[in-house]
Amino acid sequence: MFRYLPEQASKVAPSVDWLHNWITDLSVLFTVAICGAMLYFAFRYRRQDGVDHETPRIEGSNFLEVLWTVVPTLICIWVGYYGIVIYQDMREGEEQALVINAVGKQWIWEFQYENGKQTIGEFVVPVNRPVKVVLTATDVLHSFFVPAMRVKKDAVPGRYTSVVFTPVKTGEYHTFCTEYCGTSHSAMLAKLRVVSESEYERWVNDRSQDLAKLTMSPAKLGARLYEEKGCNACHNLSGTRLVGPSFLKLYQSETRKFADGSEITFGEEEETIEEYIRESILYPGKKVVEGYPNGLMPAYEGQLTDDEIKALIAFIKQQDGSAATEESEEDSGEDLQAKLAAMSPVERGQYHYQNKACIGCHSLDGSNLVGPTFKGLYGKSGELADGESYTADDEYLKNSIWDPNGQIVAGYQPNQMPQNYKDQLSEEDLESIIEYIKTLE
Ligand code: CUA
Repeated sequence: MFRYLPEQASKVAPSVDWLHNWITDLSVLFTVAICGAMLYFAFRYRRQDGVDHETPRIEGSNFLEVLWTVVPTLICIWVGYYGIVIYQDMREGEEQALVINAVGKQWIWEFQYENGKQTIGEFVVPVNRPVKVVLTATDVLHSFFVPAMRVKKDAVPGRYTSVVFTPVKTGEYHTFCTEYCGTSHSAMLAKLRVVSESEYERWVNDRSQDLAKLTMSPAKLGARLYEEKGCNACHNLSGTRLVGPSFLKLYQSETRKFADGSEITFGEEEETIEEYIRESILYPGKKVVEGYPNGLMPAYEGQLTDDEIKALIAFIKQQDGSAATEESEEDSGEDLQAKLAAMSPVERGQYHYQNKACIGCHSLDGSNLVGPTFKGLYGKSGELADGESYTADDEYLKNSIWDPNGQIVAGYQPNQMPQNYKDQLSEEDLESIIEYIKTLE
């Protein structure tokens, strides 16, 4: 009865479920038996004919007393015994386990491997090998929960706790925070990827990302994040308006006016431009610039480290106008037109994918960002938010680019995608993008 448990992806999962199901069934059995008897007697001995019937005095029954004391006691001992046995099974392999350090902080999970590799919001482990995740927290209580592995443990500031599990299936699994820890508690998620041993070795030893980031200047790292995190989808560097304000000379601005009528003059008031930028990245809704709609930018709270925010600020600082002319020379005018004309439709589509900001929200690797991935999109069918179904043919893609709110794929939000591609793209541009999408199998 009530078999709603998630996939059994760890060695101990079947025994955890076995005991869990027993406890559930016993509870249901006793609830039904006790409440059923209560209801039956209430009905059977209800007041009838308006006459009071005197209750007979019953002296008790030793047999029944013993029965309902001994049977539940034995059941409790039995449950407790297997609870201990399975709890011990859960620590199996701890000595040989692969150790991963996890830190919970509002509102991300950060992972560190023995060789120093660090990740945020995702960790990878090899299949069929015990894994020990050592937990701690930096701010408040969090709780580390991987349902498919049947492990859960609090992450406590100033203390180390741990969970051990042996994954038996490759795949992707959810990790939650299950201790209410503030505003974005429900968004404090991580992805667990269980892969083959060889794939794991390749992944864990691939330090190119970390190393490249370590040796980059903040501004350069910022430039990279500007693309990786999708800022470029809405904020350009040339001063023209996209969905959000341009980054050109943003750092150099003396005042900012906001939609609610307020205004800041940097330098005069306490708030620095750095603080303003930081706040706008983490909590975009707090100060919305005059003339721009609220609610379009995702909050980057928990998605960027302090160093990454500093890097973005350094990058924005660099956009003081000295580079803008150079860039516009390179990217506009007849040269560009000639360059585009010489390209094949697929190449042109790829160019637009990168330069019309599709890249910010639609990945090429199958991961779903703000919008669905482009990988394998062409010809795919699925369900729309309104329950209708769609097939990604030319017509569908065309409509989706020109009128993004017309058909929202189930699971995605409306109003995330700029509505003005109709002005930005010609019919030919549009066809080239579709040609490009066709190649992304
Ligand atoms: Cu961390 Cu809830």
